[in-house]
Amino acid sequence: MNREVPAPSEEELRRLAVFLHERTGMAHGESRRGYVERRLVERMQRCAVPSFGAYMALLRGSAAELEALVNSFTVNETYFYREEAQLACMSQALLPEIVSRRGPGDLVRIWSVPCSTGDEAYSIALWLLENWRLVDAYNIEIVGSDIDTRALAEAVQGWYGARALQRLPPELVGRYFEAAAEGRWRIIQDLRESVRFTRVNLVDAGSMAAQGRFDLIFCRNVLIYFDDASRATAAWHLHEALNPGGFLCLGHSESMARISARFVARHLADAVVYQRPLA
Ligand SMILES: C[S@@+](CC[C@H](N)C(=O)[O-])C[C@H]1O[C@@H](n2cnc3c(N)ncnc32)[C@H](O)[C@@H]1O
Repeated sequence: MNREVPAPSEEELRRLAVFLHERTGMAHGESRRGYVERRLVERMQRCAVPSFGAYMALLRGSAAELEALVNSFTVNETYFYREEAQLACMSQALLPEIVSRRGPGDLVRIWSVPCSTGDEAYSIALWLLENWRLVDAYNIEIVGSDIDTRALAEAVQGWYGARALQRLPPELVGRYFEAAAEGRWRIIQDLRESVRFTRVNLVDAGSMAAQGRFDLIFCRNVLIYFDDASRATAAWHLHEALNPGGFLCLGHSESMARISARFVARHLADAVVYQRPLA
């Protein structure tokens, strides 16, 4: 480890973990001590501060440094068509139920939160174009949101490597991506323009409420990084963000069972989803 800055003490690492937990919901317990230390030291070196105290003072006064710190702590693992069964459930069961209460041309809002580098939000757009015969009959708005501004900037640009595309059938890569040099592909402009990206914090009421209400929310693979209190807070905000009758899709290993009693679990053919009751 580079020792240009003093190694943080156990107490200082704990203080930083508490600070981050309060602002992001992410829980960094003892088992993630090395992870916290590496990122803290890297930020202290970048900012050329002489001590942990000086870094915390900087952090409290600088929104830009807080953003950089949060960006450095996120885990952005994602790829296209990560869970095809859930996408199938969307086009075969969830959207038909949602539009049964709407008229032709009505707005249908779908939210990928967190969206990381955009793979999930673009997967939703691409899946609907390929698999939902009513795709042109409604005004579909897809929003991708994340706390990580660096990941969001990548999402807007829409460049991807082979690993992100490995689950996509080659004909879809050919149809929806432009090949570029050195194993990079860019999602076509039409699709880039079909998704809007915004910054959001799942545990912050104001930033969540600012996004309005949705018919369908994909909130996958983030609650695993939260503790129970942050999960309950995020669940409250997600419930508020759904239209009555709207659906929430979680990640494979995530469930609302112990987190919130406000949703009704629906066991559908391809997936378990959580519905905000109609009444
Ligand atoms: C593992 S990725 C999941 C991406 C995508 N949903 C998927 O399943 O492929 C987790 C994302 O959660 C985001 N995240 C962490 N805390 C967050 C918070 N409080 N609010 C919004 N996004 C958050 C991270 O920035 C990261 O991009």
